[in-house]
Amino acid sequence: MASYCSITVDLGERSYPIIIGSGLLAGGYDLAASVDGPDCLVVSNETVAPLYLDTLKSSLHGREVAEFNLQDGEAWKTLDASAAIVDKLVDMGANRDTTVIALGGGVVGDIAGFAAACYMRGVALIQVPTTLLAQVDSSVGGKTGVNHARGKNLIGAFHQPRLVLIDTDTLATLPDRELKAGLAEVIKYGAIADAEFLAWLEQNIDTLIARDADTLAHAIQRSCEIKAEIVADDERETGRRAVLNFGHTFGHAIEHCVGYGEWLHGEAVAAGMIMAAKLSSIDDGSVERLRELIARAGLPVAPPMVGAKQLRAAMGMDKKVQRKQLRFVLLNKLGDAHVTAEFDPAALEDVLGAAG
Ligand code: NAD
Ligand code: GLY
Repeated sequence: MASYCSITVDLGERSYPIIIGSGLLAGGYDLAASVDGPDCLVVSNETVAPLYLDTLKSSLHGREVAEFNLQDGEAWKTLDASAAIVDKLVDMGANRDTTVIALGGGVVGDIAGFAAACYMRGVALIQVPTTLLAQVDSSVGGKTGVNHARGKNLIGAFHQPRLVLIDTDTLATLPDRELKAGLAEVIKYGAIADAEFLAWLEQNIDTLIARDADTLAHAIQRSCEIKAEIVADDERETGRRAVLNFGHTFGHAIEHCVGYGEWLHGEAVAAGMIMAAKLSSIDDGSVERLRELIARAGLPVAPPMVGAKQLRAAMGMDKKVQRKQLRFVLLNKLGDAHVTAEFDPAALEDVLGAAG
């Protein structure tokens, strides 16, 4: 067995490990041991399946393995896609002890996770994330769901996986643009929760973009540690967990306005983080530090010209809205954030003005 690091998401009887290492799909981890029943359904997509499905299947010895491939892309993250997985589960005669394994990026993980949450009111789910973004964020924490024509991730359920298996070797085939999009969420963790990690990112951003294996592994591990701690504290986002949405109120609105798939999720979050930082009561030097790091990661630092009115309308569908009031994740300082409905309306107009 390969060596790996394990982080626990501590949720009582629903606790689970995040396993991070190299060579885990190619025999380095006993995945079959995490599949309790006789069978499983591996959900992937047309891009990832040809790269990793056979290797994954080889670590599922002794289990019946069915496969289902989704169309690739955020535009296909729909209720129909989740329903097609449920149809497949029915066709294969899946029972309550069947396991769904999501092999792919955040889109596959969110759609397959939602199908697993719905089928027979919930079957076991294993996340095998293959993008940096999915490894540091979407595979951990149990948020599953799909988009609605009127807004991002409007349909979904909390459904914790029983295992998150992160094989860092899968990043070798990830396109550069996708790697950088994942770095946006890594930077987010530094900005909201760990100033020291943010400083480490400033020192190592070029090495991360150059895909140095040890540096990437450290970034993934620290990101997962931060996410695991926040999720364990507030699983259902009744309070603190919302800080994980730093930059996302603007980011989700950008994704919706430009059309799903035009801007990658991480790119929209990157521009959204700068917008949220500008709305925060922090000094200009801190905003500039964050802007510089995001720019060095090759990510957008300003919203697209979609129009302030459109962005504002899309933001009205944000899941943090309470009593019809927008709420934002704002920074107290770099490395510390809070959720609030109190912000300067003039500053919001300025920030939205940059979108035309
Ligand atoms: P993605 O799933 O679309 O993957 C990006 C692209 O990379 C796709 O074309 C995919 O097929 C391809 N790909 C995946 N792994 C690959 C590999 N190893 N080699 C080559 N190509 C590979 O995008 P993403 O950035 O992973 O995820 C974005 C989604 O995640 C969004 O829908 C977002 O809303 C969601 N998300 C969910 C959560 C959550 O908590 N559930 C958190 C953050 C983001
Ligand atoms: N990506 C935000 C969350 O998991 O809460």
